[in-house]
Amino acid sequence: MRGLLGPKDSVLELGCGTGSTALLLADGTASYLATDFSAEMIAIAESKLAQQPVSQLSFRVASAETLAAEGVRYDAVLGFNYLHLVDDLPGTLAAIRDLLAPGGVFISKTACLSDMNPLIRLAIPVMQLFGRAPHVNVFSATALREAMQSAGFAVDFCEYHGSGRKDARPVIIAHKTE
Ligand SMILES: C[S@@+](CC[C@H](N)C(=O)[O-])C[C@H]1O[C@@H](n2cnc3c(N)ncnc32)[C@H](O)[C@@H]1O
Repeated sequence: MRGLLGPKDSVLELGCGTGSTALLLADGTASYLATDFSAEMIAIAESKLAQQPVSQLSFRVASAETLAAEGVRYDAVLGFNYLHLVDDLPGTLAAIRDLLAPGGVFISKTACLSDMNPLIRLAIPVMQLFGRAPHVNVFSATALREAMQSAGFAVDFCEYHGSGRKDARPVIIAHKTE
């Protein structure tokens, strides 16, 4: 990921959780805004940043939709382990496209539950019933790529880097089309 980002890039991360990835990547960029819609996650991320300052990095409570309305554009938008959790995948992808400068790149890694063991899919509704799982989108990597293309992205790479025998979390690199 560091190789994909440059020292002149303004970067936005969505669904950053507690900020571990942001803390690893931000020093190779011009600016790196890491966001999550959970205030609790951002509070933990802020405390980690206070212990390990990185001048380019800031954290904020926000979503793709709220940020897109602000009109700021980024060279790269990142979303790791995030797209399968959003409520409205086409709407979020449209907001991400709006957040990118012309030719900007969207880098994601996403759990594609349709490509996983069916037992995992069966377990999710049961876990949701007991409040143990959030809202989850079930789609395949093929469907995710199609959703990106419908939202105005061209997919450059779709690669699997997991160490397990069957990795169903593709890294997809896509750029905004005109
Ligand atoms: C599985 S965690 C992944 C955290 C981090 N990106 C990582 O890979 O370790 C998913 C994160 O996405 C956030 N999230 C889920 N839906 C979101 C949304 N619609 N907008 C912003 N953040 C969201 C959650 O609060 C959570 O912190």
